[in-house]
Amino acid sequence: MDTVFLNGEFIAQQQATVSVFDRGFLFGDSVYEVIPFYRGQGFRLDEHLQRLEHSLRAIQINADYDWKTILTRLVAMNGGGNLSVYLQISRGCSGNRSHIYAADMVPTVFACCSPIKNIYAAGADSIAGVRAIVTADLRWGRCDIKSTGLLPNILVMQQARQSGVDEALMIRDGLLTEGASCNLMLVDKGVIYTPKRGSEILGGTTRELILELAAEDGIPTQEVDIDYDRLMAADEVWISSSTRAVVPVLEIDGQPVADGNKGPLWARMFELFTRYQNDLMNG
Ligand code: PDD
Repeated sequence: MDTVFLNGEFIAQQQATVSVFDRGFLFGDSVYEVIPFYRGQGFRLDEHLQRLEHSLRAIQINADYDWKTILTRLVAMNGGGNLSVYLQISRGCSGNRSHIYAADMVPTVFACCSPIKNIYAAGADSIAGVRAIVTADLRWGRCDIKSTGLLPNILVMQQARQSGVDEALMIRDGLLTEGASCNLMLVDKGVIYTPKRGSEILGGTTRELILELAAEDGIPTQEVDIDYDRLMAADEVWISSSTRAVVPVLEIDGQPVADGNKGPLWARMFELFTRYQNDLMNG
């Protein structure tokens, strides 16, 4: 993964440097995307780029780049195949540290790739369920912006690992929001429930795909408030993200979810995802 993109240039990773006065470094004044590419093609690329525009607009950064061309080229330069692209845009660098920024700053744009597994090719049996804890959501009030200010996410994830589990699900004002780097769904009597989209959660591209595929397959879905009791009484709990698709949660706070096995609706959803991805790649 040698070649990266920095401010208009494709260069070797070792040559890519950013000023210590970059606002991304000093303030976390930056937004990002993580986009999977399978066999060199972006998965839900349009949806990721729409969310990127939302994040950029929300914090008033103007970055006028042809993202599709740049990212596809970067992936090809790194050998194509199955790669995850990380794209970060900071407000730029002003040569000093000041909370106030000038309106005409030139953003810093950085993208790099790392290898990912093609989950769909590997199949449902290769997906291990995860164990999670529920912990306080300490984030700011604009979680719909994909900001690089991820300290609360990192701390809850570390807490999960120190508790011997894989994931942290976050709760705020008595309601579940999402995972440290994923959205949350539960299944109850054949219906998929997920927290409402708003400023408390990131509008996940995988979450949207689950809702779309469920609608096409006649599986009912509802965006609702989910409290702790509802979560713990679910027949199935899932988490979703671009790099991991949809993953069953088998245990929460030391208690099994239902019988502690991967659920039938999860298996169906994974099948729908696999079909969708195959059609996309072959179509
Ligand atoms: N995270 N919620 C949060 C807080 C996230 O960080 C992510 C993704 C998601 C899922 O969004 P999507 O389905 O579009 O990937 C939800 C990425 C993968 C990351 O930070 O690495």
